[in-house]
Amino acid sequence: MTISQPPVERRLLPLTPLDRTGPHGSRSNMTCFFRCGNACDHPEPNRSENGHVQDEIAKAIARRSVLTGAAAGAGAMVLGLTAPATAATSTRPGTPAARAARAARANLARADFRPVAPNTRDAVVTAPGYTSDVIISWGDRVVPGAPRFDVRPQTPEAARQQFGYNCDYVGMLPLRGDHALLVVNHEYTDEDLMFPADTYTDAEIKAIAMSNHGMSVVRIRRGSAPGSWRQVKDLASCPQNRRVHIDSLFRLDGPAAGDERLRTVADPAGSWVRGTLNNCAGGMTPWGTVLSGEENFNQYFDASAGLDERYSAEYARYGITGKGRGWSEVDARFDLSLDPHEAHRFGWIVELDPMEPNVTPVKHTMLGRFKHEGANIVIASSGHAVAYMGDDERGDYLYKFVSRKKYKPKQTRAHRKHNKALLSEGTLYVARLTGDGSEDGRHDGTGEWIRLTSDTTSYVPGMSVADVLLFTRLAADKVSPTRMDRPEDVEPNLVNGRVYAALTNNSNRGKPELPVDEANPVASSMVRSSLGEPLTEAAGNRNGYVLEMIPSDDDHERTTFTWNLLLVCGDPAAAETYFGGFDKSKVSPISCPDNLTFDTDGNLWISTDGNVLGSNDGIFRVPVAGPERGRVLQFVTMPVGAEACGPLIADKNRSLFFAVQHPGEVDGSTFENQASTWPHTDDFPRPSVCVAYRDR
Ligand code: FEO
Ligand code: CA
Ligand code: CA
Repeated sequence: MTISQPPVERRLLPLTPLDRTGPHGSRSNMTCFFRCGNACDHPEPNRSENGHVQDEIAKAIARRSVLTGAAAGAGAMVLGLTAPATAATSTRPGTPAARAARAARANLARADFRPVAPNTRDAVVTAPGYTSDVIISWGDRVVPGAPRFDVRPQTPEAARQQFGYNCDYVGMLPLRGDHALLVVNHEYTDEDLMFPADTYTDAEIKAIAMSNHGMSVVRIRRGSAPGSWRQVKDLASCPQNRRVHIDSLFRLDGPAAGDERLRTVADPAGSWVRGTLNNCAGGMTPWGTVLSGEENFNQYFDASAGLDERYSAEYARYGITGKGRGWSEVDARFDLSLDPHEAHRFGWIVELDPMEPNVTPVKHTMLGRFKHEGANIVIASSGHAVAYMGDDERGDYLYKFVSRKKYKPKQTRAHRKHNKALLSEGTLYVARLTGDGSEDGRHDGTGEWIRLTSDTTSYVPGMSVADVLLFTRLAADKVSPTRMDRPEDVEPNLVNGRVYAALTNNSNRGKPELPVDEANPVASSMVRSSLGEPLTEAAGNRNGYVLEMIPSDDDHERTTFTWNLLLVCGDPAAAETYFGGFDKSKVSPISCPDNLTFDTDGNLWISTDGNVLGSNDGIFRVPVAGPERGRVLQFVTMPVGAEACGPLIADKNRSLFFAVQHPGEVDGSTFENQASTWPHTDDFPRPSVCVAYRDR
């Protein structure tokens, strides 16, 4: 369900006021500007003291100094030590043994693939013996009647019917037979790469960019090779295909819906919102819906006459400065001077039912408001649904939610209706991690989930239920959680019951305002300016971690857990790195973990965002149990300038779906001077969703 689009003014507008240079970490300045509004150039909004004092042992954290294995010198990383997958069998073709061997190689959970070496190719490079196909690209048709993509002229109307820009989260919902639905987020736009010069007015660029945000639902079907998939191009046969965009209607749900601070000129009841913004990661629920995180929403709001002083503290904690992208020139609701509450209507977890294209998606206030990376559900042994979530900002927190009601497992209409209300009532928690000391040689300790609010009772002094949900960061600040190094995906592993969190990086870790603790132990990292160059030291946590959390008694409802750092990422030649105890001479370098997923054997798959070791980003497989725990192997690398997003292992572990986000986003690039032309269908790059699979 949509409402009419905003009017487009055809006049030149000033360039957006955000500064486009700055001391950024692992990404290009261009990515920082377009993705998160240069979040790193500002002091982190979390100025609380949390995590500074409760962990006295932090001061004693020693960097790991002993490498396991012999190859400890710079450049000693050895790739390809595993047997090539193509040499795994000598059985004759066509025999049962040969078919079994082929099936084993197609199973990405167990395949003994040769890892992809770090590289800077403008290509998707898979491990030998595997290949990848593009399923759908920016501009491809999504809904019946959509025009064919033409970069000249793009229009808002066309964009709202075509695959949006900068695909991120990828979910997959199998249908009957050989079909499935892909659900994809379109996080942000890069106007420098999207638009030819001197072709559009600034107002047109803004309106088209706004319309390239959102989500897509696209029907796919199996290809001829096991594990391969392609888009169903007969759109008339795709009733669930859907494009959620800047004017699509969302229903506000949960305890804060209707709150006075959610009411606007267009919505005096505070009950619905137009659009979803900066949708980053997400997750499929057990009841078949998709959760999507509204992340760096703060950057889209202007304030022509300054910010409303009633909300100074709230705006500041969320990084809302009033210096947005000039979208208010196109749609006045993005001017906070006119509509101070509009920004409060973003920063939520969104739930969309791909099977019900005519049902309005929901923004769940019960899951709190912050820079939501995503949300992933596990059903606790009691039957309650538990959602794990990260707030992706330097020094922000990990959260979880436990539903009041229990999950009903049948896929009947009644059970689905019940389950789709599970995220409306329950209890929201924030995490505090305490180290047990570095003497044991491990970064580990205990943790607790601290109650913030239920749907009826706030546990934060001086704040109501709605206060906590609307301004969750401020509520959490009051209960002393642990300030983490940018919590991205937080995903439960359904095989071993543990929870894994990607902590991408934090260039400020170790500064006086953000000292190390045992859960965030690295204040100095080894980085590489480009491939072939030596490692050099840089302040802060530049390569990130993967945190493993183990609920007490394996019960996700419990409020205590133990934790350890499964990975301290980086080049294995760097002393600070740690790979779950695995031999560091036999792993791939990995930098800036972002999105996580699991195969059905419980292996962790990690995509990266912002490699500081000189390579393009990639996707890696990591066993988390047994003798191979921590054996990080790179399975695929991205094109120039691109980030790897949304990894998803599906179809009996034969398919790796992933999004290639922002190919070509390299400083200085323009539409006419592209750093990448991937996927090489045009003379400009097109963000795309791909599938990798065994090719022979
Ligand atoms: Fe959109 Fe936290 O990455
Ligand atoms: Ca320890
Ligand atoms: Ca992300």
